[in-house]
Amino acid sequence: MTPPHVPLIERWQEHLPFEAADRVITLQEGSTPVVRAPHVSELVGADVYLKLEGANPTGSFKDRGMTCAVSAAVRDRALAVMCASTGNTAASAAAYAARAGITCAVIVPEGKIALGKLAQTLMHGARVISLQGNFDRALELVRELTATHPIVLVNSVNEYRIEGQKTAAFELDVDLAGELDLLCIPVGNAGNITSYWRGFKEVGAAPRLFGFQAAGAAPLVLGHPVEHPETVASAIRIGKPVRWEDAMNAVTESRGAIRAVSDAEILAAYRLLAAREGVFCEPASAAAVAGLVKYGAEGAETVACVLTGRGLKDPDTAIANNDGRIIQCEARSDAIEEAVLGEP
Ligand code: F0G
Repeated sequence: MTPPHVPLIERWQEHLPFEAADRVITLQEGSTPVVRAPHVSELVGADVYLKLEGANPTGSFKDRGMTCAVSAAVRDRALAVMCASTGNTAASAAAYAARAGITCAVIVPEGKIALGKLAQTLMHGARVISLQGNFDRALELVRELTATHPIVLVNSVNEYRIEGQKTAAFELDVDLAGELDLLCIPVGNAGNITSYWRGFKEVGAAPRLFGFQAAGAAPLVLGHPVEHPETVASAIRIGKPVRWEDAMNAVTESRGAIRAVSDAEILAAYRLLAAREGVFCEPASAAAVAGLVKYGAEGAETVACVLTGRGLKDPDTAIANNDGRIIQCEARSDAIEEAVLGEP
């Protein structure tokens, strides 16, 4: 019999700051699939795997950190959590807060959050505040507010977020039998790359870490904050990452790099993954594959790309960027025949 899916905190208890008796807030996150990508493998001349973090309950890797951050908040008797977000952290915080029965408030940059993420956050009953400013400003404001009110901040400045997210590295180490040479990952606020490196170190693994930023929002590549970040990959439209130093340490220690990919390269990888590998991720996630294809595997034999969020999160970008077309058809058999079998 296949064992039932185990919640993340339970599976990795000995590595996490929770006791067996602690009440945990879980949606059975983690233990996500690792799928081989034959087409990308051929393109780059290495064995490439995709870690499908979109298979988490709210459709992104944020659930790994959120089960820990919200469980800890509840353990500390907090009544409310709060975050700034480009969308996924908001959706995840809202879901876990709903499950815990506590209040959640999110600040999102006005007009710059993908439709699916907004729908989720509203459905889970969070208070959604649309800021006339970008993510970086939203995070500054949330940090100010949570410093003076009894509200727990659940952005990746919160250590529990990093602790939860490091478990993805444990899973890769197990699933790829310790063979991983290179990890490719999109970088925004730089919490996730920090988490992976912590996780790899804890299990004695040492793959190289290649982080990829969108060219219009690439502070870690430029070496200075970006005042007005811009990219089609709204999840990583961030100009002042809070985990800046941790991310640079991860990259240096792992002999990796942080590099930039253009929006056109991101969208090409986004379409390729969907059309050739059957995997629909969101644009920010595709940055990992765009970077791998652009810069190459540099001699690595086994590579994993972290697909951080599900494609359904951002239907607008999908509809606007594909080669398909919808064929209008009258309800008659000859018309259907022509529509299905005729010249495309
Ligand atoms: N990919 C997706 C789909 C994301 O939502 C994010 C971050 C990242 C990559 C980058 O991860 O910030 O740890 O470097 N989203 C945050 C949010 C900022 O608010 O949902 P990071």
